[in-house]
Order: sequence, then structure tokens, then C-alpha cells
Amino acid sequence: MIFETHAHYDDERFDEDRDTLLEELLAGNICNIINVGAALKGVADSIALAEKYEKIYAAAGVHPSEIAELDEEKFQWLKEQAKHEKVVAIGEIGLDYYWDKEPEIKQNQREWFARQMELARELHLPVIIHSRDAAEDTMKVMKEVCAQEIPGVVHCYSYSPEMAKEFIKMGYYIGVGGVVTFKNAKKLKETVEQIPLEKILLETDAPYMAPEPHRGKRNESSYLSFVAAQIAALKGITVEEVERVTEENARRLFGIK
Ligand code: NI
Repeated sequence: MIFETHAHYDDERFDEDRDTLLEELLAGNICNIINVGAALKGVADSIALAEKYEKIYAAAGVHPSEIAELDEEKFQWLKEQAKHEKVVAIGEIGLDYYWDKEPEIKQNQREWFARQMELARELHLPVIIHSRDAAEDTMKVMKEVCAQEIPGVVHCYSYSPEMAKEFIKMGYYIGVGGVVTFKNAKKLKETVEQIPLEKILLETDAPYMAPEPHRGKRNESSYLSFVAAQIAALKGITVEEVERVTEENARRLFGIK
């Protein structure tokens, strides 16, 4: 069975067939799904999905590109949502300097990232970190908030193998998805080769990041079998072992039996 640790089934690209697809996935080889909120509406929608499906859990957080919608009142609302019994993580939170390059916006991102890390500490929840073009500052904020005391995953990992080892030293897992199947994904393939399987989580980021041979199309959790196969090939082990160990990893991190 495959534990899907990061998907966005609340996305409008699933409006047409959401329930049919989820029922199909959960009746197949997907044992659990964490639906990750990226904005306030996404948090509410993720919790609604988790309430509807026993095997779906929610993560509550505001993505760095969505922080403009946050203020003290909304942050309080987020905190209340995060106390829901099916919320298993704060996420996705972090830094994304790919689109936002203005110093003031970057500073804002760092502040809300730190605040949401502190929220995770307060509620004893792990974090799901999104970090793009911001490796150094991500590490800096994590050190400032003593992130080694807060368990979590660096999702859709895109930095060097060396950096991955730094995150692992802080106790973090590395989220691996469709990108690992791309021909030009040299860095991620090296990372997977060099880090222990016990630190890898499987994730789609659906509807984004579909693996080969579905690259460019709408992603879904069943495609994780291509990701698992690629990891197995890189590590010279069986697909079953990849699925089993990454499932155990997810259960350990998110506290799901
Ligand atoms: Ni995501």
C-alpha cells in the first residue's frame, strides 16, 4: 500500500470527478491521503474532505505565496481549525522566492513561516514545509525557531543532496514526488540515492507534478507507483520495500495508525 502524504484534492481540477476518483484510489492501493491546505479556503476544504473520508487526513497552513490573506484574526481562525481531530500537520508553510522577490514580501513570508512553526510547536503537530529558491533562508528561520524540536517534512524537495542531509540532521523527512521520474532531475536522483529510505515520504502534490509517463497531465495518487518504482531502481531494492518503509515513515511522522 502507498501512503500519499501531500495532495490537493480540493483543487478545482478535481471538481468534475472528485468523489469517484477518491473512492477509486482508496479502494485501490492508496491506504491514506493527507490533503494539504495551502490557503484559508483550502484548509476548510481539506478538513471537509477529512470529515467525509475516514482514510483522508488534513493539514492546515498557509503557503508562502498566499500569506497576503493572513492577519491576526485569520491566524486565530487557522489555529482553531488546526485543533480539529483530523488535522495531522501544519502545512504547507515555508518560503517561496521564485515568484516573490521583493524584500518586504520575503520578510513577510519569513515572519508567517516562523509564526506557523510556533503554532505547530504549541499544538504538538508536525509541519509540512514548502521551500523554493529559498534554501538558505529556510534553514535560517528553522534554526531561529529551533526546528529540530518540531518534527516535519520538506515537501517536493528540490535542493542538493548535501542540503537534504542538513534537514535530516534536524530530524526532517524529505518528500519525493513526480520530479524524480524526470530525465533531467539529476540532483533529486542523487539525493534519493544518498539519503536513507527511512527518511523519504511519497507525495504527489496533485494536481501538480505528475510523474513520467503522465508528465504535464493532472496528477493523482495512483501515479505514486511510478515514483516508488523510480526510487526502488535508484536504491536497488524492491518496490514493495519502498512502499512499506515510506508508509511506516508517514505513520510515524503524522501519528496515524
Ligand atoms: Ni502542495
